Amino acid sequence: MSSSSNRQRLNIDNINQHVRSAQYAVRGELAVKSEQFRASLVGGTSGLPFTQVISANIGNPQQLDQKPLTFFRQVLSLLENPVLLEHEDVLLNQLDYKPDVIARAKFLLSKVGSVGAYSASNGVPAIRQSIADFLERRDGFPANEADIYLSAGASSGVNTLLHIICADEKSGILVPIPQYPLYTASLSLLNATCVPYLLDEAKNWGTDLATIRESYEKATAAGIDVRAIVIINPGNPTGASLPKEDIRAVLDFAREQRLVVLADEVYQTNVFVGEFHSFKKVLRELQKENPGKYDSLELASLHSVSKGMVGECGHRGGYFELVNFDPEVQAEIYKFVSIMLCAPVIGQCLVELMVNPPKKGEPSYELYQKEYTSIFEGLKERATALHKAFEQMEGVECGTPQGSMYLFPAINLPPKAADAAAKEGRTPDEFYCMRLLEATGVCLVPGSGFGQKEGSLHFRTTFLPPGTQWVGSIVKFHQEFMDQYR
Ligand SMILES: Cc1ncc(COP(=O)(O)O)c(C=O)c1O
Repeated sequence: MSSSSNRQRLNIDNINQHVRSAQYAVRGELAVKSEQFRASLVGGTSGLPFTQVISANIGNPQQLDQKPLTFFRQVLSLLENPVLLEHEDVLLNQLDYKPDVIARAKFLLSKVGSVGAYSASNGVPAIRQSIADFLERRDGFPANEADIYLSAGASSGVNTLLHIICADEKSGILVPIPQYPLYTASLSLLNATCVPYLLDEAKNWGTDLATIRESYEKATAAGIDVRAIVIINPGNPTGASLPKEDIRAVLDFAREQRLVVLADEVYQTNVFVGEFHSFKKVLRELQKENPGKYDSLELASLHSVSKGMVGECGHRGGYFELVNFDPEVQAEIYKFVSIMLCAPVIGQCLVELMVNPPKKGEPSYELYQKEYTSIFEGLKERATALHKAFEQMEGVECGTPQGSMYLFPAINLPPKAADAAAKEGRTPDEFYCMRLLEATGVCLVPGSGFGQKEGSLHFRTTFLPPGTQWVGSIVKFHQEFMDQYR
């Protein structure tokens, strides 16, 4: 037997190299190291200079402080174990379940049968209808359940849409920089072309049409077939909440250049400044003002149960809505999602609860409203406190928190820090985040993981972790780091 036959068939050089080249910093080296630290702290003899790891690297609300909304989990408990419905008196009188919890569970069970069964490929019809009703209430324009596709979180929706849009390596997608790395990573996997466009940090990370146009033209001149533009609103990692004029400008540009618009709106309820404007609503307004002009502009907008006050990311629920898509293309999207059978049915039920929560006057409303408001206010307070701390830090600049779950401050590090980073083969922001993790247990993501303007450095932190101690430890570390490398 030759020695090579003793080796595994697969090795790092012969597997799909597109997987190897994909980058996903949110769960990268720093996150892996933070988990090792967490494991070594369990025994109590780690020798580490901190007592807990703070995972500020990922928008995972319930891993941190956020409690699930009671109404949602009570309904889910009945969906998972319908036998409980045979004991309504116990539910009502001993477990404090309200009649609307029982009614909703019965309604959903009548539509899904069992949550252990596959549903229709694009999702349970009644749940799609509930989403369409929500979209109509939200936007003031009709929505059609046949254009809605349930997904396993927004990530799976993005995966579906990019698979459909990208035909080959010349297919280009305009992606904001900085961006949530799902987009660049998915394009690497598909071997398609990312066409980056920079967001405008000086304009609170808004979109700048001249910059988008420049990126588009450069890519087109290089032979790229630019087909779509991604917008994340409210932004990740930037937290920006786009004004209506920016959205109108993007839609107009997309119409002019025949680009599909992918609007990632998973943070639509995490808005502290101004209000959320959906791309769908703005498109419908443009269509009303200019009959016929926007009728072939394709828009796909995505939402999820992972963020907002719901924070149920472990349940993997989400959906996307298509507007103005060719029916033949839509049939292929249906086929694509059917290859994965369907989105998790319990996640689909959570989507229904998110879009159709208890209404005023219903028995669960008061508690739902109290929990929801308290989470919203808590996030806002933490964002403000964190922002205040960043304002005091030497060489750190951070815009006012506007939305989503993140702050993305710019950091100006001394040249000696850049030299030390280069010696370790790291970018200066990676080096900074690594030293911070080792000194404090706080895990952030360096700006390079999202893309940033050349010559600038950032880090992203969520403001989900409770308490202020971890914020104090960042401030202290920062001063020591600056002193060391000054
Ligand atoms: C902008 C954005 N889009 C999509 C996602 C994916 O969310 P999920 O797949 O959990 O719905 C995230 C997660 O952090 C995100 O920040």
